[in-house]
Amino acid sequence: MYKPHTHCRACGYAKRGLGKAGEAKPMHKVLSLGLQPLANDFRTELEERAGHAPLEVLVCPNCGLAQLSVVVDPKILYSNYSYITSHSKTMLDHFNVIVEDIKREATATRSVLEIGSNDGTLLSFLKNNPFEEVLGCDPAENLCKIANSKGIVTFCGMFTAENCDCQKQKDVVIARHVMCHIDDWQDFMRGLERVTHKESLVCIEVPYYKDMLERGSWDQVYHEHLSYMSINAMDWLVRETAFHIHKVTHYPIHGGSVMIYLRRNESSVKPVFKYAEALAEGYPLEEWKELDRRKAEMIGQLRLIVTTAVTEGKRVVGYGASAKSTVWMNACGFTKREIAWIADNTPQKQNTFSPGSDVPIVTDKTLAFDQPDYCICFAWNFFPEIQKKEANFKGKWIVPVPEVHIV
Ligand code: TYD
Repeated sequence: MYKPHTHCRACGYAKRGLGKAGEAKPMHKVLSLGLQPLANDFRTELEERAGHAPLEVLVCPNCGLAQLSVVVDPKILYSNYSYITSHSKTMLDHFNVIVEDIKREATATRSVLEIGSNDGTLLSFLKNNPFEEVLGCDPAENLCKIANSKGIVTFCGMFTAENCDCQKQKDVVIARHVMCHIDDWQDFMRGLERVTHKESLVCIEVPYYKDMLERGSWDQVYHEHLSYMSINAMDWLVRETAFHIHKVTHYPIHGGSVMIYLRRNESSVKPVFKYAEALAEGYPLEEWKELDRRKAEMIGQLRLIVTTAVTEGKRVVGYGASAKSTVWMNACGFTKREIAWIADNTPQKQNTFSPGSDVPIVTDKTLAFDQPDYCICFAWNFFPEIQKKEANFKGKWIVPVPEVHIV
């Protein structure tokens, strides 16, 4: 089901050159959640569950990239993929912002490829605005069908150096929240080399590890997130490729993300990025260990609030069957006894069960109808929007990040 991961996928530590294999120090273990189910393994009663795998974070002794100690077989991880790009206002607002930023940054705007294009939502913002040629690429068949039905031509498959659409080089290539899911970064970079020309712009959006560490959002650690990107790691990665970092922009989406713009080394556009930006990050070992300590504290706090409420005969539920919800549910050891149900507006998740805890996933209409005493917002990154939408809820919200607190 999974294989061990022992070398750094950004700088190659323990693989080539830097600390020769066999002589290199092992990566530093900084955070552990033990054996965990796969966070998006939402299944109906009759479907078989994928099983459990170790969930622990290692930090590279050389470049500081944090990465999981195992790689779960992507066929198992993504065979039943229920993550659909959120159509929430927060996300659509973010798309509007990045579309304008990308258009401003790009020197050519005729063709665009999005890697991990999901249901084609972002590409539909770019189609004829001003991109005439729009292409998606995603391994999930259900999502490709949705995108194609909306008129967004989508190639169904993984983006690899071998199977990328290299017939035509694109002016702009976008990969949002994709790199953290990819094991072989060298192959990914070779693919990017094949689909770009001299003046192409590559736009890579990733959750930013500094925000994660500052916010205490350890719940973003799950098997799909193989790495926790830093600017320094990206700089190491691109050193042996045709690219350099052109610019880095910071956004609040998903608890804090960065857009890393890459350009080819022969590009005529002068880079804005200064290496000092990467250096300023420092070496993150102690920060990760602090996150591990904070995690234990936060789990204890949520457990205490929930078990006290349940003991007093109150009903507690969850909102947002996010991958983060699975991490919390299992880390806290919650079952149906503590959490009656988790509401979610994604049809693919409704009528399934939360991985590991087997708590039922219900429609988001259930909250106003059922009026429980407490509701844990597991989609805390969308809390202001959800709170507004669920204004008829008379109970109390529990928001677990950045501190576990009752609203
Ligand atoms: P999200 O935070 O996007 O991702 P992850 O799975 O990576 O942790 O997940 C948010 C979940 O919350 C998603 O399943 C959709 C759901 N949701 C609602 O049910 N209602 C809402 O209003 C919003 C914004 C999200």
